[in-house]
Amino acid sequence: MTELALRGATYTLAADPFLNSPSDCAVYESDGCILIRDGLISAIGPYARLRDKLPADIELRHYPDSILMPGFVDAHIHYPQVEIIGSYGAQLLEWLNKYTFPAEARFADPDHARRIADFFITELHRNGTTSASVFCTSAPGSVDAIFKAAQRHNMLLLAGKMMMDSHAPANLVDTAQSSYDDSKALIERWHKRGRCRYAVTPRFALTSSPRQLELAGALMREHSDVRLQSHISENRAEVARASELNPQRMHYTDIYDHYGLLSERAIYGHGIHLAEDELRRFHEIGAKIAHCPTSNFFIGSGLFDIAKTKNAARPVTVGLGTDVGGGTSFSMLGTMSEAYKMAQMRGNSLTAAQCWYLATLGSAEALGLGERVGSLRAGRDADIIVLDPRATPLLELRAGVAESIDELLFALMICADDRAIAATYVAGKLVHERDFAD
Ligand code: GUN
Ligand code: ZN
Repeated sequence: MTELALRGATYTLAADPFLNSPSDCAVYESDGCILIRDGLISAIGPYARLRDKLPADIELRHYPDSILMPGFVDAHIHYPQVEIIGSYGAQLLEWLNKYTFPAEARFADPDHARRIADFFITELHRNGTTSASVFCTSAPGSVDAIFKAAQRHNMLLLAGKMMMDSHAPANLVDTAQSSYDDSKALIERWHKRGRCRYAVTPRFALTSSPRQLELAGALMREHSDVRLQSHISENRAEVARASELNPQRMHYTDIYDHYGLLSERAIYGHGIHLAEDELRRFHEIGAKIAHCPTSNFFIGSGLFDIAKTKNAARPVTVGLGTDVGGGTSFSMLGTMSEAYKMAQMRGNSLTAAQCWYLATLGSAEALGLGERVGSLRAGRDADIIVLDPRATPLLELRAGVAESIDELLFALMICADDRAIAATYVAGKLVHERDFAD
C-alpha cells in the first residue's frame, strides 16, 4: 500500500456550471490536502482537518502558492499528426490530403510509431493532460504503440485504429472487413488492459463505405462498453460532400445514426455546422461533441456555438479537445483561452468555471470517464496537476492583483501555458516535474 499526501490550494468542479448555479459547481480550498493510496484519492479536504489523520510515516509534499487540480482530459487529439502541427494555408479537405495523409502513412513503420507515441505522451504530461481520447492511423501497429506508451505511465487513455476504406491514398486505406477484424483484435488485446480503453474510430463519413460504417456499428453492438470517436460537421465543403455521398440520408447526423454510430457512447469532433434538429438528436440519444477551438480557428472551419449546443432546454454534452495537429497546441490552458474567444465571437462570455469544467470533468463525462477522472474527490483516480499561477513574470504580476480564485483562474487560462504546469501526477505517481533549467 503506497501512501502520499499533497498539500496546497485545491480546486475542482463537482457539477456542470452551464446547467447548475455556480455555487453548486466549484469547490475551492485555500489550504487543502489530498491523500493518495494505491493510485486513488483516499481523502481530500482542508489540511487543518486532515493533518491529524495522516499516518505518521506518510510522505507529505507541500506546494505552497500552487493550486492542485484534476489533470486535464483532452477529448480529441491525433497523435500521428504531431509532426505536421502548424502546417500552412489549407482548409480541411485540402489539409488532409496535403499534410495529414502523408504524415499518417509513416506510421506503417513501427519504429516511427514508437518514437512519436513516446514523444506524444511526454508532451501530454508536460501540459498537464492526464487522459485523452486519441486517434491513431489505419495501421494497427499505431494503436499498439500508443497503448504501450500510455501503459508505461499507467495512464487512463482511449484510443482506436482509424477505419477508412474510401477516398484516401492507397497506402492508408483498409477494407471494411480488415478494419472490422483489426479493430476487434485490438479491442481484445487492449480494452480494459490496465487503464487502456478502446474507441471504435471511423475517421468520418467521407472516408468510409456504407459497409464499413455498418461494421463499425456491429463492433459497437458486440462490445457494450467500448466507446466511439469520429468527426462531424467541421467544414462546409465536408458537410456538402457527406450529403452528396449519402443522398438518401436526411442530414450528416442521420448518416451516423442510420448505422448505429450515434449513441451515448459516441463522441464526435467539431459539430460546428449542426442544425437544430441534429443537435436535438444528439441530445435525445446522448451523443457527445468534442469542441476543438484552436483547430477551428487555424483550419478556418467556423465558430462553434457552445451556448446553442448546451442550451438547457436540450443540452448536448460537450468536451474540450486540442485536435492536434489541426489544433495548434497541446495546452488545454491555451485551448480554454481559444474556447473563450470563440464564444466571445458569438456574443457569449464563458465563465472561468465553465472553461475549467470543459477541460476537466466535462471532457471526462463526454468520454464516459467522469466516475474515474476529471475531478478531485475521494475514490477517484489520483490524476492531479500542480498549477503555478506565478510561473512567469507576467503571470506573477497578474496574480498579484487578482481578488478572487475565479479571477486568478480566468487570467491563468487566458495567459498561461505549459510553464504553469509545475507537476503532473498519474494514478498517484509523479510523471512530470517542471525544470526551468532545461
Ligand atoms: N476530419 C476527418 N479527419 C480529420 C482530421 O484528421 N482532423 C480534423 N481536424 N478533421 C478531420
Ligand atoms: Zn480530429
